[in-house]
Amino acid sequence: MALAGHPIHAMLVSFPIALVMATAGSDFFFWWTADPFWIRAALWSSGFAFWLGIAAGIAGTVEILLAPGIRRRPASWTHFVAAMMLLAIAGANWGFRLAEPLASPLPWGAALSGLCVVFVAIAGWHGGKLVFEHQIGLILEGRD
Ligand code: HEM
Repeated sequence: MALAGHPIHAMLVSFPIALVMATAGSDFFFWWTADPFWIRAALWSSGFAFWLGIAAGIAGTVEILLAPGIRRRPASWTHFVAAMMLLAIAGANWGFRLAEPLASPLPWGAALSGLCVVFVAIAGWHGGKLVFEHQIGLILEGRD
């Protein structure tokens, strides 16, 4: 799935990756400073991490359904399962904060943020393997 030759999934994934890290960073700074600003920052970043992750997941799912040969590779399923785990935990992290927006995220919100970082690392690593090892999503024609 591409826009003028640029893969949409690859364009979208940067946002949830950065926002997952921003949420964990905000929880860390709240623990450090006790400034409630970081509670609100994490509420917004966790929500956008979840919804932009869903958008990236939709683009990725279209690819896994339509790209020829992709479903035969175990690496595709490793990435898919890790990404679904990430989206589930990211959704829980946002929902947890939404229930009581001004409550301290310590310790459970911060624990969910930590788990999100672990799963974004696993999903991102395996997504990168799909592109750089298995050459999925690349246009290889016309190279020197
Ligand atoms: C939930 C369903 C998902 C599916 C089915 C899926 C599928 C894919 C596929 C087919 C690729 C290789 C082709 C391409 O780059 O477009 C890929 C790459 C990648 N995916 Fe996913 N993905 C999903 C979700 C996610 C999520 C939530 C993240 C991270 C937040 C993510 C991170 C990545 C990364 C970093 C790459 C490498 C992109 C690059 O360097 O070009 N994916 N994914």
